[in-house]
Amino acid sequence: MSNVIIKRAVENIRRGTSVYTPIIELVVNSIQAIEEKGNVDEGEINVVIKRSGQTKTDSAERDITGFTIEDNGIGFTPKNRESFDTLYTDKKIKEGGKGFGRFTCLKYFEDVHVSSTFAEGDSFLQRTFKMGKKTEIIVDEEITESESAETGTKISLKGLKTPIPERTVNTISRVLVEKLLPFFIKDDKKCPKVYLADESGEKVLEGREIQIAANTPFYGYVICELTRKVKEWLEEVKDFKPLPDRMGYFRRHSNLNLYIEVLSWEKVLKDSTMRNKIFFHKLGLE
Ligand SMILES: Nc1ncnc2c1ncn2[C@@H]1O[C@H](COP(=O)(O)OP(=O)(O)OP(=O)(O)O)[C@@H](O)[C@H]1O
Ligand SMILES: [Mg+2]
Repeated sequence: MSNVIIKRAVENIRRGTSVYTPIIELVVNSIQAIEEKGNVDEGEINVVIKRSGQTKTDSAERDITGFTIEDNGIGFTPKNRESFDTLYTDKKIKEGGKGFGRFTCLKYFEDVHVSSTFAEGDSFLQRTFKMGKKTEIIVDEEITESESAETGTKISLKGLKTPIPERTVNTISRVLVEKLLPFFIKDDKKCPKVYLADESGEKVLEGREIQIAANTPFYGYVICELTRKVKEWLEEVKDFKPLPDRMGYFRRHSNLNLYIEVLSWEKVLKDSTMRNKIFFHKLGLE
């Protein structure tokens, strides 16, 4: 339980910070959580840029809406949770910690979500909560059994308050490296790996990245039993239109650049029978 006027604390953050400050703060927290776990060699931090489905300008890059920062550190143990809940926490005072870094998140982002797995004895628990905006630092907290057997924390920064001018991964990574450099050049210290990726950085099975630009079209297919209920739902709720043969439905989501078809099993069979027929006809194999 805390009792802080969070809005005032955030307003009091002096100038000289930028939208990158919360990301740096969270990456540093992640480095410290990995050090606390004592697994720096396997330590990994993933920063992912979240983008909207739409682009407001002609640029190929979609607008940035937020970031997630994920680490495989010790997680939000009761002690770390307690420290997070304390304004000007002194948990890291020896390392020069001011106990305030997390509040910079609320200066630049509407919402801060935390999801963390920590060990308790032989079991793993998952703690999720949001950063409050009124008087409680931790709100909507839930603790459940974790599905993961590895500790770590994922923090999502959502609802960017002011647009970010630099939009490509390259420019953002340059800013991050520059700001994080002091943490990497302490010679007595090892550092975990830090990766930065765009949300669209999907990978094929072999690990090759699929390049998805703002104008890349997507095609989605659903094959199902077209019952009366499904048809009604598609037409009346989801705004789908029937295909000419009425054995399926289609819809274009222009804002997502997605064309989607819902097909009946009969249609898939009928179309492939027809395709094979033409193929054999062309080969003179009828
Ligand atoms: N990724 C994380 N994993 C585990 N605990 C974390 C993580 N991020 C934050 N914490 C906990 O939340 C507390 C508050 O973090 P915050 O960044 O606001 O302050 P600090 O790191 O103690 O000091 P500073 O203001 O210098 O950053 C930390 O002391 C730590 O206990
Ligand atoms: Mg910190």
